[in-house]
Amino acid sequence: MIFPEDFVWGAATASYQIEGAAKEDGRGQSIWDTFSHTPGKVAGGDTGDVACDHYHRHADDVRLMRELRLAAYRFSVSWPRVLPEGQGRVNPKGLAFYDKLVDELLNAEISPYVTLYHWDLPQALEDRGGWTSRDTAHRFAEYAQIVHERLGDRVSHWTTLNEPWVAAYLGYGNGVHAPGRRDPAAAMRAAHHLLLGHGLAARALREAGARSLMLVVNSAPVLTPAQVNDPEATPGEADAAAAHRIHALLTRQFLDPAVHGSYPAEVLDAAARNGGLGHVQDGDLELINAPIDQIGINYYNPCVVEASPGEPADAAWPGSEGVRFATADAPTTAMGWPIVPDGLSRLLARLSRDYPRVGLMVTENGAAFDDVVQDGRVRDRDRVAYLRGHLREVHRAIEAGADLRGYLVWSLLDNFEWAEGYRRRFGIVHVDYPTQARTPKDSALWYRDVIGRNRL
Ligand code: FCB
Repeated sequence: MIFPEDFVWGAATASYQIEGAAKEDGRGQSIWDTFSHTPGKVAGGDTGDVACDHYHRHADDVRLMRELRLAAYRFSVSWPRVLPEGQGRVNPKGLAFYDKLVDELLNAEISPYVTLYHWDLPQALEDRGGWTSRDTAHRFAEYAQIVHERLGDRVSHWTTLNEPWVAAYLGYGNGVHAPGRRDPAAAMRAAHHLLLGHGLAARALREAGARSLMLVVNSAPVLTPAQVNDPEATPGEADAAAAHRIHALLTRQFLDPAVHGSYPAEVLDAAARNGGLGHVQDGDLELINAPIDQIGINYYNPCVVEASPGEPADAAWPGSEGVRFATADAPTTAMGWPIVPDGLSRLLARLSRDYPRVGLMVTENGAAFDDVVQDGRVRDRDRVAYLRGHLREVHRAIEAGADLRGYLVWSLLDNFEWAEGYRRRFGIVHVDYPTQARTPKDSALWYRDVIGRNRL
């Protein structure tokens, strides 16, 4: 299986998950500092205070990326490192860090893919309502411009948000992520303001000359249990309706406004029943509908649902009344996530159909397993199988005509896996936290060779 000549191969990380140096060089506090330091919120009481210490080890980490032949590195900028209070005063040392990182990447011939928001909202903004407040969308656009002013001469690829669904519904809906609020109305407001922030920032970046703009969503095909192992299975009417509604809440909620300038009826209905639509103002959808070049897709597993009359809405899914979230009949990763590689090609086919004029990129895909270092080596056969299986589907999607431009593995390094702390290892490079030693796993060496040959 040969990939297109200009296919982009790389890896991804996020600021709070790897940087550490939480109190250094003037960095302000983020909602994830507050959350992880609140007892009971993160497994093992883990925090991102030190994480992979990437803030101090970036030069070595870039060298490692080069050895792995990565052509692209997707990282995120920590908003409170740049603007400690979220607005106003800029922290020059914060910007200087990313400036240096970008230079190192370019010297190593690695394209930087910058994500402006990967969940570490400045705590000062959360104190004023966070994403439930419309003001945060405007503050986000200002922050985006500040970062672009500094890096825009060297960075072409800009992502506004990572996974707004997760930020809104796990952050403000079921409270599993920072800021840990549990309020369906707040979650729906947050989702809209995240989208507004995306639109405002995308416009500002474009005006400032950004060449390539991307919105990254966590997406998945929504399947009935029978469809997991049989793509041809025809679900009954009620199950099909349940899947249709959940697809609208998960994916179309974000991509329809961004790409088509409209909300699906299912989302408007859920919002109307959860706090109302007062926060959606005239003109918002035009602002959100700023042209983007690519949709970034983070895919890990399918979403499996069936109709279940009387079922109350899940806390993370306002509007999901009458739907039961089911498990897939498939082997699982250490996260308990089912491994369904062809879910990726099914998803890519659907997105190509629904958003035909926008390019696609797999911006995250990967798996956690219980890796161990033995004689200086990590024999992570499961991860190689996972990646191989998904890359086959990527290839299949391209053959079927998807405008798929690249693939970024999650993650370069083992890191702080949010509410799961450090116990879940997603890296292709193993990190020994006490010594910060990096050991490329077998999957990293395998991936390096795939990249080198541009084929599977
Ligand atoms: C995604 C996140 C990423 C990582 C993976 C496992 O939802 O974007 O930071 O935690 O899941």
